[in-house]
Amino acid sequence: MTTKSLIYGHRGVPVKFPENSLAGFAYAISQGIDGLEFDVHLTKDQVPVIMHDEKINRTTDGMGKIADYSLAELRTFSLANGEPVPTLAEFLNLVSGEPVHLNLEFKTDKQYYQGIERIVLRMIQQTDLVYPVVFSSFNLRSLQRAYAIDESQKYAFLSSAHIGNPEWFCTSEHLEGLHLEHYQPMSRVSQRVWTVDDPDELRQLFDHQVNAVITNNFELATDIRAAI
Ligand code: G3P
Ligand code: MG
Repeated sequence: MTTKSLIYGHRGVPVKFPENSLAGFAYAISQGIDGLEFDVHLTKDQVPVIMHDEKINRTTDGMGKIADYSLAELRTFSLANGEPVPTLAEFLNLVSGEPVHLNLEFKTDKQYYQGIERIVLRMIQQTDLVYPVVFSSFNLRSLQRAYAIDESQKYAFLSSAHIGNPEWFCTSEHLEGLHLEHYQPMSRVSQRVWTVDDPDELRQLFDHQVNAVITNNFELATDIRAAI
């Protein structure tokens, strides 16, 4: 029996919309995307917002660190399409009840946000979602904190490096899986590979039946998967 790999939009659909924008997420859902990957930080007043970088310089018309702005201050800046930086609450309102898989990345590896795991988990617990969220992070400590708060959720460690004995590592760290930059043979744990836009690499990963690929161009990946 073959298992179809899921296709997750990395930061939404950055080939067509500003990354991590509600417009991109809404478009992807309207087109029936399997899953969405997105990155979460906290504002100075502890509101979870969706953006990749710790600073707003690259993706908005403002400058500075998310952690130094209140939500009201952050919302005076705009993404390239004019929309404000999305809050997690707005995102959850958009995806609630939709048949889309979610991969929420705690962006806590460069800047740690005190209490982010508890705040985010509470919001997820209060939202009507079709599938369980996969929480990922490059910061294993964040996943450990989250697991201590809610053992029932799915946690995945993000790594650019090879993981020795992935099954043992996942069991001992209470992880459902690994989100890897490079494919590794493994069994009994989920593997999602990022960020894959190359057609040949996508074909190989679909052949390996990884649980998911995380891509900037979900429409290309969907066409490739359909042709296999
Ligand atoms: O979750 C996969 C990928 O998003 C991890 O890297 O830096 O794009 O968040 P980054
Ligand atoms: Mg990410």
